[in-house]
Amino acid sequence: MSKLRVAVIGCGSIAKYRHLIEYDQNANVEIVAVCDIVEDRVNETAEKYNAKAFTNYEEVLKLDEVDAISVCLPNYLHAPVSIAALNAGKHVLCEKPMATSRVEAEQMIEAAEKNNKKLMIAHNQRFVASHQKARALIESGAIGKIHSFRTAFGHGGPEGWSADGKDSWFFKKEEAFIGAMGDLGVHKADLLRYLLGEEFVEVASMIETGAKDFGDVDDNAVCILKSESGIIGTLAASWAYTAGEDNSTIIYGEKAILRLEDDPNYSLIVQYTNGEVVKYELGAIQSNDSGGQTTSHTINHFVEAVLEDKEPLINGEEGMKSLEVILASLESMETKTFTKIKA
Ligand SMILES: NC(=O)c1ccc[n+]([C@@H]2O[C@H](COP(=O)([O-])OP(=O)(O)OC[C@H]3O[C@@H](n4cnc5c(N)ncnc54)[C@H](O)[C@@H]3O)[C@@H](O)[C@H]2O)c1
Repeated sequence: MSKLRVAVIGCGSIAKYRHLIEYDQNANVEIVAVCDIVEDRVNETAEKYNAKAFTNYEEVLKLDEVDAISVCLPNYLHAPVSIAALNAGKHVLCEKPMATSRVEAEQMIEAAEKNNKKLMIAHNQRFVASHQKARALIESGAIGKIHSFRTAFGHGGPEGWSADGKDSWFFKKEEAFIGAMGDLGVHKADLLRYLLGEEFVEVASMIETGAKDFGDVDDNAVCILKSESGIIGTLAASWAYTAGEDNSTIIYGEKAILRLEDDPNYSLIVQYTNGEVVKYELGAIQSNDSGGQTTSHTINHFVEAVLEDKEPLINGEEGMKSLEVILASLESMETKTFTKIKA
């Protein structure tokens, strides 16, 4: 099998801790080029991975020797750069949230279809071992009918993560468009759609800006969601969980409760109605606290999808449906009403 030749656009934290490390560890990949507007950052990255350095992404897209691109850029650049890359004949792995609007997401999907190239969105929560096991248990019927859930994704904020700290694009509405809901909420919207195997239809939300004394994006949110079969639950996304990360999900079913990433030792605890408790040790979730050093499987999945011509698990349509949950949540907050989520 010939190697997949990749370029990574954006050499900030997600590129550094996941994309580049995981491409480098994949025997079927060659990292050809890297790009960042910060010259020192891109030069250092290029040296580390023996790749060519660029400060203008358009130059990268002109390279014939690049087959695929990772888009590791601020949110407002996801759609324009992904579309340009697809039109230049490259496969694209784009970070989440997929885009800043439904129109942009649709344009990305169209560009992938028109150019017959893969488009994957990096919703790595689906690949976490405890989440995969929970999905299998739900699918098998072992949990019975699901009635409710609660999920949370929160930490102290991206100032402790982004390559640019407090000055990061994460805190600027013009570049981020969505704050904690786009950083963390969209991950859990995607995870729940995957775990429950159904779509959300309605949302009511409170999405606040005020946990930080800098920045102008949302940083603390709680949403109530309803699925097509009537499952109701809460999704919290926050940069105000200063003392540590919460990445937990609890699913309440007829036959059992699933506790995911809620216990420090057991990443999945299944508490059956008959009193039986099964504790699974399935390995740690990737987190900001751990520096994200464990493999996310996202990159390997993308590489395999391209090399073996398979549809990625999280294609453009999937990315767009998860984004829709977040967009409807924002609308609910703005209009102070229950908001229908677009199919
Ligand atoms: N999947 C996940 O779990 C996860 C985790 C964190 C971040 N992300 C996503 O990854 C993306 C990047 O986030 P990050 O944490 O790496 O941010 P970051 O601030 O650490 O890095 C962003 C980088 O993009 C560079 N950049 C900005 N404009 C550019 C341009 N026009 N051309 C080239 N480079 C440019 C910046 O200089 C910076 O180095 C975001 O969309 C974010 O939501 C995903």
